[in-house]
Amino acid sequence: MKKIVLSGIRPTGQLHLGNYLGALQKFVRMQQEGIYDSFFFIADLHALTTQPDPAVLHANVRHIVAEYLAAGLDPEKSTIFVQSDVPEIPELYLLLNMHVGIGELMRTAAFKDKARKQLGITVNKEGDDDSDVAREIIGNESNKRVNAGLLTYPTLMAVDILIQHADFVPVGKDQEQHLELTRRFARRFNSFYGVEYFKEPENFNFGGKPVKVPGLDGSGKMGKSEGNCIYLVDEDKALRKKVMRAVTDSGPTEPNQPMAEPIENLFTLLKLVSAPDVVEHFTTAYNNCEIRYGDLKKQLAEDILKITAPIRERTREIENDDEYLARVLKQGAEQARERASKTLSEVRQIMGITPFWK
Ligand code: TRP
Repeated sequence: MKKIVLSGIRPTGQLHLGNYLGALQKFVRMQQEGIYDSFFFIADLHALTTQPDPAVLHANVRHIVAEYLAAGLDPEKSTIFVQSDVPEIPELYLLLNMHVGIGELMRTAAFKDKARKQLGITVNKEGDDDSDVAREIIGNESNKRVNAGLLTYPTLMAVDILIQHADFVPVGKDQEQHLELTRRFARRFNSFYGVEYFKEPENFNFGGKPVKVPGLDGSGKMGKSEGNCIYLVDEDKALRKKVMRAVTDSGPTEPNQPMAEPIENLFTLLKLVSAPDVVEHFTTAYNNCEIRYGDLKKQLAEDILKITAPIRERTREIENDDEYLARVLKQGAEQARERASKTLSEVRQIMGITPFWK
């Protein structure tokens, strides 16, 4: 039996370099290994937790499927599908929620972040104090609302994974807590019903650490909401311009000086996209105080374009091929539903809601 790989991305906009280096590139590599049964999907139900405009959501799903295919995911080798095409997922989500605590969900970092944003609470980076979120949510003083879908985001994600009995879930560092919850829910279900049913999935990083792709604005990770992204479909000129504008400092003044965060970030990006001798060259230049950030950025932009430009061109071709996209997603949904419906009926049986009159 082949090990099962599964992962997904929320369709909140065009994919950026962080999505690619942190997730999509790994998906493609795992597919190419040829030793896994792999499932890659678009998490459109998860996208609903932030209440997107319906037409925008629709366009994003189409665009990301095209980007998946353009980056090298192959419907003959992997199951590529849209989450909402698998109705077994929302049903199992309802069932699994019966074993999930609202407290543990409220303590999830991603939830606290988003809830604070929705409630307009300013983020306090120092203290790990949950009481502000809890008080605002349970208290009846404010008319602001945090939707229940956002709270149960981890249940839905656990279901995506458990319904296919995935062994490996290649995700970035920010998703590790969700993966940990998935394992906990699996163990809890198994022990509550006294069955060895669900597997505990693991992250997968080809032996390395999960990558955190930095943005161009000097600090933090690349993210759409951060506005510091390079998109896979950026045109050459626009991309070069973005890279040239990346934040730097005035340069090292003494040999082997430690790097400030913005410079460290540029080197992190360079290591991710450039050849080792290129990285070596600029590292030596930095250490000898001979570095010219302009040269580094030029090189970085060209090495990023080597990756993104071909993906951009293929995305443009595929994006408008309705017939092809429909074919891929229809086949993907059928394949994804095969195992999902088996899991769902087994879980119904285990939980005691199989109709007794049949
Ligand atoms: N939460 C993931 C993200 O924001 C997307 C996701 C949803 C996912 N369901 C998943 C990832 C299942 C891996 C497996 O990126």
